[in-house]
Amino acid sequence: MIVTKISAIMIMAVAIFTIYFITSTSTILAASTVIPTRPQRLIIELIHRDSIRFPYHNRNENVSDRVERAMKTSISRFAYLQAKIIKSSSWNENYEAGILPSINSSLFFMNFSIGRPPIPQFTIMDTGSSLLWVQCLPCNKCYKQFGPTFDPSKSSTYSELPCNSPYCRYSPGSACNLFGKCSYNLTYMDGFSSSGILARETLTFKASDEGRISLPGTMIFGCGHDNGMFHDRQVTGVFGLGFGKLSLVSHLASSFSYCIGNLHDPNYIHNKLVLGHGARIEGDSTPLEVINGRYYITLEGVSVGERKLEIDPKIFKRKTNIGKDGVVIDTGSPATWLVKPGFEALREEVKALLDVWLTRSYWFDSWTVCYEGVISRDVVGFPAVTFHFADGADLVLDRESLFLQAWPNVFCMAVFPSFADHDHHETNLSLVGMMAQQNYNVAFDVSGKKVTFQRIDCELLDD
Ligand SMILES: *[C@@H]1O[C@H](CO)[C@@H](O)[C@H](O)[C@H]1NC(C)=O
Ligand SMILES: *[C@@H]1O[C@H](CO)[C@@H](O)[C@H](O)[C@H]1NC(C)=O
Ligand SMILES: *[C@@H]1O[C@H](CO)[C@@H](O)[C@H](O)[C@H]1NC(C)=O
Ligand SMILES: *[C@@H]1O[C@H](CO)[C@@H](O)[C@H](O)[C@H]1NC(C)=O
Ligand SMILES: *[C@@H]1O[C@H](CO)[C@@H](O)[C@H](O)[C@H]1NC(C)=O
Repeated sequence: MIVTKISAIMIMAVAIFTIYFITSTSTILAASTVIPTRPQRLIIELIHRDSIRFPYHNRNENVSDRVERAMKTSISRFAYLQAKIIKSSSWNENYEAGILPSINSSLFFMNFSIGRPPIPQFTIMDTGSSLLWVQCLPCNKCYKQFGPTFDPSKSSTYSELPCNSPYCRYSPGSACNLFGKCSYNLTYMDGFSSSGILARETLTFKASDEGRISLPGTMIFGCGHDNGMFHDRQVTGVFGLGFGKLSLVSHLASSFSYCIGNLHDPNYIHNKLVLGHGARIEGDSTPLEVINGRYYITLEGVSVGERKLEIDPKIFKRKTNIGKDGVVIDTGSPATWLVKPGFEALREEVKALLDVWLTRSYWFDSWTVCYEGVISRDVVGFPAVTFHFADGADLVLDRESLFLQAWPNVFCMAVFPSFADHDHHETNLSLVGMMAQQNYNVAFDVSGKKVTFQRIDCELLDD
């Protein structure tokens, strides 16, 4: 295996917040320090794993180290989503398998506070799971985290979900426990787990005007008293943005949007997530399907420049009702994964265009196509690659969204062939990764069953 480096990759950063909360039937927003004079938007800064804003940022890492991690993150992310799918199919149940994302399968992180008084949390942002959970005192087992651990006994707005709550039966991995409490139990792929009690709390987010915006004490979350995950001690929990009965998204107008700018710039500060009514649902839309909490869209074709590749659109279709195939739109994998015939068609076209000028190279077992050279210098005039989704929504990938500078003098296509396991068995699942979504505002309107893409400079969305 040749490992590599890449020019910069993902890095990111930030967020901001604003909420738009207009009181709606299911949601009431209270502004704790500022009375909004106009609808506010809840905008949250998204912090990239390699950002200097990441509390455990390692200053000794160079670009090669970060690019290698981007590759590993893509691999473990794809494996994480498949593990969830396989587990939910073996349960044959219509709700989410309790598999957790690890820090290694996560790209973006976000801050918020829980309880009253509010206690800050630093969590993984995960569109692949739908429960929000954080570590809670008293700890049967807790890993060392950043800042104080949340103590529900010191919060005036904490309330446990009773076993007879209609929500309790949707608890991942658990339900009513021996003590008559509504419990949950989530596990990492390596067997560690987080378990605790389902409860309701007040969530507080920083507003762009320096004020704070609180969601009332009715938001369901997992209060984790037994957290065995040794590796992920940097974070205090997971902010699940998937869709489900227990998920925050379903209580926040069933919508959210995010804008990710340049993943190559570690200091980019305009990456943001907007929750609820303020989600910016603009641009071309494509139908959205939610399967066990995860988000699927329909890819119909790929073009390189004006040339539409010969790919049977059936290969991207979702045929099973558990989401084992089809196309997931994801926020954790930098790279995109395409089912083999789709990947091969794209790879062959890239080769046809670049083989003439450049010398082939290798990276990570040569899963993808690589060349000697520097993207900015050697990939000039390369046509845009377009992913065409159902109903006419497109994602257009320029060279920075398609190629990754793996080493100082080697770059690779950041699209990989879907594999099911380490033996490279095939799978029919595809995934649209974050590099492909750079410089787009992507919105999820779950009740309207659509995702929208709008190409935009994320900075323009700062309020
Ligand atoms: C980056 O750092 C690693 C060690 O962490 C080293 O092996 C590698 O040569 C460095 N790469 C560059 C391009 O400096
Ligand atoms: C995450 O990556 C680090 C560094 O590569 C490794 O030491 C750790 O075991 C990984 N954790 C998991 C859960 O895979
Ligand atoms: C996120 O929260 C942590 C802990 O409260 C804090 O140290 C860090 O500065 C925050 N990050 C950002 C980008 O606000
Ligand atoms: C949670 O599930 C894991 C894996 O199934 C199990 O080993 C662990 O004992 C469970 N934890 C609790 C508190 O039930
Ligand atoms: C993928 O789809 C093809 C064509 O429908 C099918 O023959 C194959 O068995 C599927 N593979 C897996 C792993 O589901």
